[in-house]
Amino acid sequence: MSQKAAFVFVAAVAAGALALSSNRQPDQTRPNLATEAAGLTKTYGAGLLGALKGAMEGIGPVGAVGFCHDEAPGIAADLSQRSGWTVRRTSLKPRNPAAAPDAYERKVMEAFNAKIAAGAPAASLKQAEIVEQDGKRVFRYMQAIPTAELCLACHGSELKPEVAAKIKELYPDDQATGFKPGDMRGAFTLSKTL
Ligand code: HEC
Repeated sequence: MSQKAAFVFVAAVAAGALALSSNRQPDQTRPNLATEAAGLTKTYGAGLLGALKGAMEGIGPVGAVGFCHDEAPGIAADLSQRSGWTVRRTSLKPRNPAAAPDAYERKVMEAFNAKIAAGAPAASLKQAEIVEQDGKRVFRYMQAIPTAELCLACHGSELKPEVAAKIKELYPDDQATGFKPGDMRGAFTLSKTL
């Protein structure tokens, strides 16, 4: 091993040992959970956006509606299984009925919307806390999802008729149109029972 390679190896081992020891400290639990949730959210969001852009460019908006329908739930289920967290998206105006919020998510998203109405950018809004649920302590993390230009093809006010028809076919109870750039389209919602 060259001297440089040896140094890199030792540094990597030291960093690993540090990460392990900080994981074991009980007083680190809260910041670690929030950091972990934020990291997972980033992975999840990037994965969805990459898949969406690929589909929009490759097969166009009508095909991309079908693609989101077939693939989006699996991306969340996959990440949940790999991470040990429950990872999903929710919205006050859901497209997929399975994305409807629980009471906690509704309250947090209403508070996010109040902040946006008062001038806060949707992209800045997140909340992390431990709540009591059915006698258990649950760590919950939510992060607002802003509406961008790219989203308007399927969530805006003027959908192409063929896009609107495909959405109606797959989601007869769709509520997720009429959004403007900067609106909160929904939120990432992660939870972990402690
Ligand atoms: C090609 C059409 C299309 C585009 C473009 C699109 N979406 Fe969606 N979106 C969908 C479909 C279809 C679903 C339902 C997926 C499912 O069944 O889980 C959905 C679901 C969602 C959900 C989950 C909650 C719900 O209502 O079911 C969020 C949040 C969301 N989209 C945000 C966005 C954002 C943010 C953008 C822009 C970056 C975007 N979408 C762009 C089609 C689209």
